[in-house]
Amino acid sequence: MKIAVFSSQPYDRRFLNEKADQHDAVKMRFHTESLSLQSVSLAQGCQAICVFVNDVLDAEVLHALAHIGVRAILLRCAGFNHLDTDAARRLNLFVARVPAYSPEAVAEHTLALTLTLNRRTHRAYARVREGNFALDGLLGSNLHGKTVGIIGTGKIGLATAKIFNGFGCRMLGFDPYPSPEFEAIGEMVELSELLSESDFVSLHCPLTTDTHHLINADTLNLMKEGAMLINTSRGALIDTQAVIEALKSRQLGSLAIDVYEQESNLFFEDRSDDIITDDVFQRLMTFPNVLVTGHQGFFTIEAMREIASTTFENLSAYQLGTECSNRVAGTY
Ligand code: NAI
Repeated sequence: MKIAVFSSQPYDRRFLNEKADQHDAVKMRFHTESLSLQSVSLAQGCQAICVFVNDVLDAEVLHALAHIGVRAILLRCAGFNHLDTDAARRLNLFVARVPAYSPEAVAEHTLALTLTLNRRTHRAYARVREGNFALDGLLGSNLHGKTVGIIGTGKIGLATAKIFNGFGCRMLGFDPYPSPEFEAIGEMVELSELLSESDFVSLHCPLTTDTHHLINADTLNLMKEGAMLINTSRGALIDTQAVIEALKSRQLGSLAIDVYEQESNLFFEDRSDDIITDDVFQRLMTFPNVLVTGHQGFFTIEAMREIASTTFENLSAYQLGTECSNRVAGTY
């Protein structure tokens, strides 16, 4: 079985190769290119492909893959908002994902962003290295006693809530489905109540047609003035232009993001020698109260091992034709 691995970075090779070494019959072909209509031909001769969050899996690409003999798609991620599930089903493609590699990895990164932005450690780091020990501009606030709103109380939302709860925060949650585990540490409320009461709002729901631009001019207006918004889920949950306006008017106090709506044109590559032409992103970069990381929430040793492990389990299920609980709903 030959597998074309798209968007592969040295760290993907390291962790996938660790597993591939245990599967003699599997040959991995690593490509740094992301999957698009232009790069489909790199999968020629492969029965399966392995892809990540910003690879294109629309109907056109899926047709082209099926045409050259690809039968299985292994997602190295949990989210599958970039997959045309109807097209995958029509083409009888096997698609499986890694639903939960480490909720704690993303939850801990959410806290890293929140604490950094709240206590300005990113600015302090640069200052101290330049011999500047002035504290002006570094004033933060205690997390203890603050209200934190978690939108999406699934695996990552719950893991995040538990950590905030440990800091002594009052927890509010919003999710269409009840979460008894969340209710053990907080209160499930309506979205409007969560937004108006929270000092920190953290997004942990999937990107769907319902949640696209969940944070927009209207919902930003419902938020407590000066609150912090944190997004480690998917970029398009946020209308970035509306967030920029809310930052300018100071309605929104600060913004920490690990994901960005147009991230596929930017993230996972060294662009330090490029001219970045995304003016919306560049405007975000001008705010002192905005912190951005490039989709690294998942990036821990434990999570990378789990991703590789589950990817190979999914492959085995496909090869053996056994039940695969990680199959993407609505496909195959
Ligand atoms: P999950 O499926 O366990 O939880 C998602 C929760 O969101 C569910 O409880 C669901 O009912 C809820 N939900 C659905 N629609 C909603 C809505 N309209 N409003 C509020 N809640 C809603 O998923 P998990 O593992 O917690 O992952 C959450 C998201 O985190 C993923 O969809 C993915 O986009 C993102 N993610 C980000 C990573 C990163 O590296 N930054 C890594 C892994 C996941």
